[in-house]
Amino acid sequence: MISLEEVISARPDFHTGETEIRRAFQPDESLLPQSEARNLEQCKATCYGIGEDVLRFLADNIDERSKTLETGAGCSTLVFALRKAQHTAITPSETEIRSILKYAGDNGITMDKVRFIPEPSERYLPRCDETGFDLVLLDGKHAFPWPVVDWFFTADRLKRGGWMLIDDVQMRSVAVLADFMHADPGWEPVHDFSGKTLAFRKVRDNVLDVAWHMQPWTAANMQDAPPGILRRIRRRLGKLLRRGAT
Ligand SMILES: C[S@@+](CC[C@H](N)C(=O)[O-])C[C@H]1O[C@@H](n2cnc3c(N)ncnc32)[C@H](O)[C@@H]1O
Repeated sequence: MISLEEVISARPDFHTGETEIRRAFQPDESLLPQSEARNLEQCKATCYGIGEDVLRFLADNIDERSKTLETGAGCSTLVFALRKAQHTAITPSETEIRSILKYAGDNGITMDKVRFIPEPSERYLPRCDETGFDLVLLDGKHAFPWPVVDWFFTADRLKRGGWMLIDDVQMRSVAVLADFMHADPGWEPVHDFSGKTLAFRKVRDNVLDVAWHMQPWTAANMQDAPPGILRRIRRRLGKLLRRGAT
């Protein structure tokens, strides 16, 4: 069987061109430099995998008792499989799934405990009925608001003390989530992998049963809000308090 280090250094090519859209990719729709966009259009197989340091972190923090989930699939899926975690990988690409399974078969990696969900995360996660995850890796679709949507549907499926990893923090669609998680008392930032991937530990049982004014990130800019809004909120609070007193 191939070793973890061999998988990490091989970085097999499981991804093909633009994976975030289902229709044909047109380079002129992209804001990338046109040469890069054209390369993307022609790209047959490549590896959009997370960093080696993140793969090693995953390997060090999971074992056969771990229950894990990732949006997207690739090298990371092989690491979960090698560690024998009970793992769910969500990707709409059946081609990726086939090539990951082929690579695993050719290299003696057992995939018995990996369940692939061949669907976009935004379709599967709202009906996912599993909870009690020890680790969630968000590395699926990166267009806004997918990282936030994936976070929303996985945050409270994660155990207190579990890990949430978010990749590609340099993108605004992920940065906004990182910004929120840094400020929120439900999360403790634990590792920063070169500013690209962040690992947070969940420190509350429940992070979604919350009101906006209980979230430091949401309430913070209320100090800068125009006085009209503050007056309206104060008036409404006053009314509610008076109603409570009678
Ligand atoms: C950056 S790659 C993931 C890399 C992987 N973590 C690794 O280490 O190799 C992004 C992945 O998201 C998948 N993807 C694209 N759109 C998606 C969606 N709507 N839901 C879930 N996954 C999606 C792609 O097919 C691809 O597997």
